[in-house]
Amino acid sequence: MRKIAVALSKGGVGKTTTAVNLSAGLADLGARVLLVDMDTQGQVAKALGVRPRAGIANLVAGAPPEETIFAARDRLWLLAGGRELVGLKREIARKDFGGERTLSDALAPLDGRYDYIILDTAPGWDTLTINALFYVNEVLAPVALEAMALQGLREFGASLGAIQRYHQQLGMTYILPTFMDRRVRKSAQIFEQLQEAYQQRVCPPIRYNVRLSEAPGQGKTIYEYAPRSAGAEDYHALVAQVVGDEM
Ligand SMILES: Nc1ncnc2c1ncn2[C@@H]1O[C@H](COP(=O)(O)OP(=O)(O)O)[C@@H](O)[C@H]1O
Ligand SMILES: [Mg+2]
Repeated sequence: MRKIAVALSKGGVGKTTTAVNLSAGLADLGARVLLVDMDTQGQVAKALGVRPRAGIANLVAGAPPEETIFAARDRLWLLAGGRELVGLKREIARKDFGGERTLSDALAPLDGRYDYIILDTAPGWDTLTINALFYVNEVLAPVALEAMALQGLREFGASLGAIQRYHQQLGMTYILPTFMDRRVRKSAQIFEQLQEAYQQRVCPPIRYNVRLSEAPGQGKTIYEYAPRSAGAEDYHALVAQVVGDEM
């Protein structure tokens, strides 16, 4: 079972888009996938066009998996995020010790049930993101190809380092360039800089593709909404790369 967090402190870089379409793509290939939304905005459920009655906050509070895990597609299950996570954040903050392991403890009983557990995280650096990073072994960081991209990634890497001291198996395994626009010179330049700095950890880029921004409003994955789009093609390539790294 692989546990991957899609994370980067900066917002609007394609984290949710990536978490949804990576998960759906893996499920399409036959893997059993659990997608966990760690964001109070709860956009993952909307993007999949579903309205679960419960989610990750309820599971952490002690509700059973059968009542909290929602079957969103074939082989794709969802632990929804949303407003309830605000209360969970407060509860974690009140703990005297071990708060960063709250999510790991709650998800431990699910070990082995899935091939992949993918966590979408909120922008910023909150207790929920820290919990997600303590739980996973792999981080996939989407990086929008724009000014300051490298600096943002370096800062995020430093924050990750602080967690790695307590959780040595954690690695930043994938760096995913997003919003690639070949007509913009800066975009290609930053892509090259990323490759120089992070080498084979850099995935094939996701191009800017308007279909990717339309799909969530329709409650559809990119493969459902626009299967022939550049967005579907690019996310297929990412899925293939992630599957190819399986040991
Ligand atoms: N490659 C892309 N091309 C065009 N629009 C995109 C692309 N990736 C994401 N978007 C859109 O950009 C916005 C931010 O993406 P999102 O995945 O929500 O980022 P994050 O979760 O990091 O905040 C959303 O409206 C999304 O639909
Ligand atoms: Mg998001």
